Amino acid sequence: MKEVVISGIGAYVPSNIVTNEDLSAIVDTSDEWILDRTGIKERRISTGEDTSNIATKAAILAIERSGVQKEDLELIIVATITPDMCTPSVACMVQKELGAKGATAFDINAACSGFIYAIQIAESMMKIHGFKNALIIGAETLSKIIDWKDRGTCVLFGDGGGAVVLTESNTKGIINTFSKSDGSKYESLVAAAFDVENPYALNVVKRNNKVQMKGGEVFKFATAAIVEAVKEVLLNTDCNLEDVKYIVPHQANLRIIDYAAKKLNVDKEKFYVNLDRFGNTSSASIPIALNEMYEKGMLKAKDKIVLVGFGGGLTFGSVLIEWK
Ligand code: ACO
Repeated sequence: MKEVVISGIGAYVPSNIVTNEDLSAIVDTSDEWILDRTGIKERRISTGEDTSNIATKAAILAIERSGVQKEDLELIIVATITPDMCTPSVACMVQKELGAKGATAFDINAACSGFIYAIQIAESMMKIHGFKNALIIGAETLSKIIDWKDRGTCVLFGDGGGAVVLTESNTKGIINTFSKSDGSKYESLVAAAFDVENPYALNVVKRNNKVQMKGGEVFKFATAAIVEAVKEVLLNTDCNLEDVKYIVPHQANLRIIDYAAKKLNVDKEKFYVNLDRFGNTSSASIPIALNEMYEKGMLKAKDKIVLVGFGGGLTFGSVLIEWK
């Protein structure tokens, strides 16, 4: 069975920067509170681009860098909780924009773990069905599901997208993957999809389609999830935590990352953090961070890297990769 490597990476964020100061003009908050509780200084908020636009821009860069021709993409998966439409999928919209006619395209929803789940699915499909090239995107316009009157949530999130091209190879790239969900706690983080309204419904049910979060519960879950996911993905591999050069976590909150570093007994410097500039971009945060590391020249051949996601569902997961 062939191996799967990351052959290209790209990201795109809207140019509009919204600072903590800007937010303190619309809700009762302050730069000091947000920075102290989350580590976030600013985030990018779309001024009109939808998820498919952001996803396409990230994808174009990843494809260019991969050297793969768009016609040779056989699989496109977009992880998102903020699609443009119920149908078609964002993946099909991206497929049209790219002209990647030969691909199977679909979206998945695993919230902030979406990019990790999508890599796991793609790797399996590539190995089982023989797909040679896959495009994996995490993209969000969370700004459209944020309650801009709720200071407890609107300060946390941002918009953006990141993408990788996965390519069949004779050398190892994706070494191991891990995923797990706990649906019993789904109410900790919700944003409803539709109102219930049809001629047969007994009552019209108006649902709140903005993000509602029990911050404390999510915090507790997230810290435990990072620790479990990092340990699990290293199990039954030749690699231990000391061999891992970087951990790229979902960028939700600096305090979550600091806490997990302590629990894992690893240097905080091993965790790559850029949430200060982008906030929590859900499924996009890991590829945006990985792309930034790539552009800074931090990623060297043979580096072992753990990607770790956690979020709504509740879901969590991890990927152990060796950089090519
Ligand atoms: N500015 C000022 N005050 C605020 C703000 C704000 N933006 N938000 C909340 N407060 C107030 C609250 O109203 C509360 O006031 P009160 O004591 O008078 O009632 C006080 O601050 C404390 O509120 P808490 O919610 O207890 O604050 P906490 O220290 O728990 O921090 C936070 C809140 C940052 C959301 C924290 O719970 C957290 O980080 N949770 C994890 C959430 C997260 O990262 N979610 C995303 C991960 S999952 C995913 O990515 C999908």
